[in-house]
Amino acid sequence: PKGLGALAERKRRYFGVAWDVNRAVDSDYTQLVLAQFDQITAENSLKWETTEPSRGVFNYTNGDFVVGTALANHMSFRAHVLVWHSQLPAWVTAGNFSKTELTSIMKNHIVNVAGHYKGKVYTWDVVNEVFNEDGTFRSTVFYDTIGAEFIDIAFKTARQTDPHALLAINDYNIDGTGAKSTAMINLVKGAKRRGVPIDQIGAQAHLVVGTLPTDIQANWQAFTDIGVVVAVTEVDIRMPTPPTAESLAQQAADYKTVVSACLNIKKCVGVTVWGASDKYSWVPDVFPGEGAPLQWDDNLVPKPAYNATVQALLA
Ligand code: G3I
Repeated sequence: PKGLGALAERKRRYFGVAWDVNRAVDSDYTQLVLAQFDQITAENSLKWETTEPSRGVFNYTNGDFVVGTALANHMSFRAHVLVWHSQLPAWVTAGNFSKTELTSIMKNHIVNVAGHYKGKVYTWDVVNEVFNEDGTFRSTVFYDTIGAEFIDIAFKTARQTDPHALLAINDYNIDGTGAKSTAMINLVKGAKRRGVPIDQIGAQAHLVVGTLPTDIQANWQAFTDIGVVVAVTEVDIRMPTPPTAESLAQQAADYKTVVSACLNIKKCVGVTVWGASDKYSWVPDVFPGEGAPLQWDDNLVPKPAYNATVQALLA
């Protein structure tokens, strides 16, 4: 490994990136990704709408390409995601299934998709974004139809299917302490008491420049205190666009905060950024007037955030 990945490995961590089939056509960008990172997450290709677009019809073309690229370049592969309410095909969301039927559909999805990638996956995001901001369960087709036990069932099925993959529960806004982080701790504690195989909490870390919670490290440390590892899974730190010298400097400080937090926590296994160049970020599509959240700019020039990451990894 080279680049950020090599620096992270010296600290027994990885430094990963989201990448996907639709980025492969940009060879300069892909060269950058392969030169800098030692772990890949498929940004979209393993989501349910892609892997099981109609009931019982599985499509692994895009996912296989991303996994193949990662493994051929000696990068580990983080698989995202088995059970999530978003990017679900309409046959699932509008199917009006009974609890029994949806449970069997969910298990069948996990058995097939995790089965297909068995042995190639370092960590699976088994369930994603199950909480509201106040720590109650989000109303989704899985929660509303099956109840909270859909989470236990999903983890048990994933473990049976690929016993060697680490199994993660992943969410955003669980960076600082608060109701959502507390709910996550309580869920994982309860699951562990019931023998449900959750190995990892994934903190997405979609953050805003200059507004980072002051207790990120303490909060992630508290996750590991309940017997799981933590991974920082989808980092980006957005700002009002266009960037200024000041906002870029603050962003650099914020990247350092996030990376250092992981390095300072014994059981934080690595950091993944949600893309490398600002030109491919999801942020401007969803938050008009905001963007530039990554470590390289639109022209693939490293930003202060990149230099700060290097400094944090060397410290
Ligand atoms: O593939 C179609 C393309 O055919 C079509 O022409 C185009 C027109 O809009 O859309 C393309 O699909 C887009 C897809 O990304 C692939 O680029 C979808 O519209 C777009 O909604 C989708 O956005 C993704 C988003 O998840 C959807 O929820 C982002 O790329 C992806 O970065 C984002 O990732 C999520 C994580 O999975 C979970 N955590 C939050 C994170 C950011 O939202």
